[in-house]
Amino acid sequence: MKAWVCNAFGEKPQWVDAPDPVVSALQPGQVLIDVAACGVNFADTLILLGKYQKRPDGPFSPGFEVSGTVRAVGADVTHVKPGDAVMALPDWGGYAEQVIADGRFVIPLPDGVGFNNAAAFQIAYGTSWFALKYRADVKPGEIVLVHGAAGGVGLTAVECAKLLGATVIATAGGADKCQIARDHGADHVIDYKTENIRDRVCGITATLGQPKGVDVVYDPVGGDVFEQSLRCVAPGARMLLIGFASGTVPQIPANILLVKNVTAIGFYFGAYLEQNPDIAQQGMADLLGRLQSGAIRPMISHVYRLEQAMDALAAIRDRTATGKLVIDCRASR
Ligand SMILES: NC(=O)c1ccc[n+]([C@@H]2O[C@H](COP(=O)([O-])OP(=O)(O)OC[C@H]3O[C@@H](n4cnc5c(N)ncnc54)[C@H](OP(=O)(O)O)[C@@H]3O)[C@@H](O)[C@H]2O)c1
Repeated sequence: MKAWVCNAFGEKPQWVDAPDPVVSALQPGQVLIDVAACGVNFADTLILLGKYQKRPDGPFSPGFEVSGTVRAVGADVTHVKPGDAVMALPDWGGYAEQVIADGRFVIPLPDGVGFNNAAAFQIAYGTSWFALKYRADVKPGEIVLVHGAAGGVGLTAVECAKLLGATVIATAGGADKCQIARDHGADHVIDYKTENIRDRVCGITATLGQPKGVDVVYDPVGGDVFEQSLRCVAPGARMLLIGFASGTVPQIPANILLVKNVTAIGFYFGAYLEQNPDIAQQGMADLLGRLQSGAIRPMISHVYRLEQAMDALAAIRDRTATGKLVIDCRASR
């Protein structure tokens, strides 16, 4: 099969003819998938550097979220069979024509959901939905501040917070990105390239009758953005730590949490699914229903051919990507 393979952390992935996975070597519970599409994530750039939570032992392909057709199943897999269209969350390996996934994270595709939408949906919507609904417990009427709001997870956070009945203040870098957030439901937008987050947030929340700030912060950026957020939260606020796209992990001054009764909440989607299988099943079914009905629509800004996957990663790194990028892994077959 064709695949992008990284031989060592920090080295550029190579476009190679890799051996096909061996069907007879499938472990119980595993599913072998002919990949149709793979969603691109910021974390793909991190795993290639060895800076992600998961560190493959040997050569590997990046790619955490795929859709495709089941080629074979290992013992004990009964919920999908060869020929079924599925979406899946492998540990890595999606930048390839075939991938093996843990059957616990393989879901049959609902009717009418295409491969590209399925590949763009799982991590971005899953992260925002579970973080906002189950971890931060966002209530109708609350004010949610979403950073990086034109990016993969940020844009879905705008949509999910609106679905939960919140008023959304979105931040993004530049007028075009702010417009994308507005088009996806943000009630107020702040261009953090040119505007001060704290001043603008407090100005907006004052007009909403809550001068001290927002109820919930959704932060996939970290660094200075997080620090500014801490200065515009209402007493009792919840701050969701989603990621550190800025490259800087914030150091939280505990005294401010204490004085304002603020809660900092870490959220890691992959671990959450494993730790909360019942909530995960219920929440994903809910989300899939909304995807199937068209209530949520992934914004796919670009589809790349598998051999162009490095261009997709470059767009993530240089911040030109908006919404989701998808790799069509069938194009080279
Ligand atoms: N906790 C979880 O389970 C989970 C799940 C998915 C993703 N994440 C994390 O969330 C973050 C965003 O992931 P994503 O896939 O949504 O990425 P993405 O599509 O590339 O979006 C990241 C956004 O961050 C902003 N940003 C600020 N500084 C940046 C920098 N130095 N380099 C690149 N972007 C920068 C960019 O918006 P502006 O240009 O508008 O600033 C960009 O739109 C990552 O840290 C990722 O690891 C966490």
